[in-house]
Amino acid sequence: ISPPIQQRRHASKQHFVADLSQCLFDFVIQLLPTPEEMAVKEDVRKLLERLIRTIEPDSRLLSFGSTANGFSLRNSDMDLCCLIDSQERLAATDLVTMLGDLLERETKFHVKPLPHARIPIVKLSLDPSPGLPLGIACDIGFENRLALENTRLLMCYAMVDPTRVRTMVLFLKVWSKRRKINSPYKGTLSSYGYVLLVIYFLVHVKNPPVLPNLQQMPPLRPITKEDTHLNGYNTWFFDDIELLRQRWHSENTETVAELLIDFFRYYSRDFSYNTGVASIRAGLLKKDFKGWQNDLSASRYNDARERNRLCIEDPFETDYNVSRCVTKDGLYTIRGEFMRASRVLAARPERAIIALAELCE
Ligand code: CTP
Ligand code: MG
Repeated sequence: ISPPIQQRRHASKQHFVADLSQCLFDFVIQLLPTPEEMAVKEDVRKLLERLIRTIEPDSRLLSFGSTANGFSLRNSDMDLCCLIDSQERLAATDLVTMLGDLLERETKFHVKPLPHARIPIVKLSLDPSPGLPLGIACDIGFENRLALENTRLLMCYAMVDPTRVRTMVLFLKVWSKRRKINSPYKGTLSSYGYVLLVIYFLVHVKNPPVLPNLQQMPPLRPITKEDTHLNGYNTWFFDDIELLRQRWHSENTETVAELLIDFFRYYSRDFSYNTGVASIRAGLLKKDFKGWQNDLSASRYNDARERNRLCIEDPFETDYNVSRCVTKDGLYTIRGEFMRASRVLAARPERAIIALAELCE
């Protein structure tokens, strides 16, 4: 290729990437929840907390998931966790049943208690109204302290580099919902799983990294096992974000668009799905090493193989594969979508907005 053509291609690529970054910002900003929506959700949390306290006076109701980690989209559901600070407390199954009855009597929510689920929860929903045009969906769980901690970890990652991390995560959440690959019940991946894939990519794949590994940074003070362990899992991570912002300056200067293009390329082509485990704590691990192999000799009555098609290690609960619900077909569809996205972006249409619309079709 002659130098002028090369230069022109380079200029057109630079133009597309700059245009795409701007489009991505504009696109996600209009999908953020409004201050009114956030205020209504906080009112709902307070109301529910007040009601729960009539059953368990020493309880607190805390938000986790997207409402608390900075990755919330308009109309995303509310994940709430009830913590009970006293020693003598009701069993979760009884609490779920009693709370279900109480909310049925005292509120306008549609209530569905699931006392015998693997993790007992109460599911609530509210019909749309003028103030809340899309209604509210909410799950209340109990004593899920690890989920509160992993929410705080994701929030800290979002705060280290708010623009690039939040834009990428929010875009991927919308994209995966629009492309219908965000349903663990149907064999694809939860939002939590996609967020971990983004963080894994920014910490361990990009060189120089965009984010530091918060779980492996040296602590400022000596820490003891009692301070840092929860249910036997190490939940320590560097959470002094003010200090981190002063000290951490990524040498990676890529734009959101460049990172997103590379993200899709990496997960369509380069990630070792057959043998690899994505761990934000420890980098790329081997399925063998974790005992998560998808070994073809496994008995067909043993669904272990199906469970470990895609492997993403939970940051704290390290024996838990966050993507264990992803089936063979689900993974095939997800990888197909990563490839499609790569293709759409590689075509670099005249205007980036066209690529974005096609991506989320
Ligand atoms: N979670 C978990 N293990 C999973 C899925 C979820 O521990 N396999 C916990 C995490 O604490 C996560 C929270 O549940 O932050 C909510 O998960 P999810 O609904 O997937 O993510 P959100 O960020 O809330 O996304 P959305 O807005 O789509 O609800
Ligand atoms: Mg959620």
